Amino acid sequence: MKIVDLRSDTVTHPTPAMREAMYRAEVGDDVFGEDPTVNRLERMAAERLGKEAALFVVSGTMGNLVALLTHCGRGDEVILGDRSHTLLFEQGGMAALGGITPYPLPNQPDGTLRLDDIAGAIRGDNVHWPRSRLVCLESTHNVCNGTPLTAEYTAQAARLAHAHGLQVHLDGARIFNAAAALAVDVPDLVRDVDSVMFCLSKALCAPVGSLVCGSAEFIARARRARKVVGGGMRQAGILAAAGIVALEQMADRMVEDHARAQRLGQGLAEVPGVEVAPVMSNMVYFGLTEEAEKTPAEVLDGLASLGVRVLPRAGGRFRAVTHYWIGDGDIERTVEAFRQVVGVAG
Ligand SMILES: Cc1ncc(COP(=O)(O)O)c(C=O)c1O
Repeated sequence: MKIVDLRSDTVTHPTPAMREAMYRAEVGDDVFGEDPTVNRLERMAAERLGKEAALFVVSGTMGNLVALLTHCGRGDEVILGDRSHTLLFEQGGMAALGGITPYPLPNQPDGTLRLDDIAGAIRGDNVHWPRSRLVCLESTHNVCNGTPLTAEYTAQAARLAHAHGLQVHLDGARIFNAAAALAVDVPDLVRDVDSVMFCLSKALCAPVGSLVCGSAEFIARARRARKVVGGGMRQAGILAAAGIVALEQMADRMVEDHARAQRLGQGLAEVPGVEVAPVMSNMVYFGLTEEAEKTPAEVLDGLASLGVRVLPRAGGRFRAVTHYWIGDGDIERTVEAFRQVVGVAG
């Protein structure tokens, strides 16, 4: 039985084309700057995002950390969302490893931070206060239903930050999903930010890797930060080769995943006992209503026995994420599995 694994788009295995490219990759020592495949991936990524330069890192977590360590020094403060991945799911790396303090602001349901809140959080010059250095945004916003930030919002937030001498970093782990959801080009979404991280290993299907993009000067400094967190890799072209295929073959197909996510959301909404949040990209967040006769744990067990996996979330909710290895038949199977397991008569 095929397992329909909707827990995350990180469960994606590399495609045959990626495995072939990895096998054939030309490599060198990337810490010496001599891996031609890494160098090519970094040039391609910078070009795709409309930035001067890019840096290949192991993961999204490392990419965000490296960006924050590059923007900020010890005692500096970062303004970010209280539901952001960087605050919730990256072990407080900025504080633990960089001496950087987070200043969390309420994420609105669409993943934004209110501009008034940002303005109110920027510190003046006072010996008692940390220095406000950076605003971090996230798009698509994972916990906020996978909602993309519009180019207009990002430009406004960046204008505000820059007017006060702060920089802006975008956690764009799924920036290609954001571009597809808004039907705009990626460079339009990241033009106003000083740095952006995006992941190859999520919806783009590569086995490993993320890129931090920014000015050439910023990336030169980020290269030092990557080295100090142990992220200097050697013959990393083996991994970068899959990333090149990801950019060439995967980046422009997100609309297919989004269409399936819409169908999944619609299908689940028709299952008695299930209520579904608005579907904004490739993520479907949903929960059980009072009429459901099962606990979330029982639902997960029942689904597992039918070969369907979704991710349990806080408050008894669930998340399902569509990706390259999920086809139309898998969506139908998932809806049917829920109908059977939740067990409320229609
Ligand atoms: C929005 C966001 N940022 C960063 C990350 C971290 O990426 P990684 O798991 O590669 O460290 C994730 C992972 O799911 C994410 O969803």
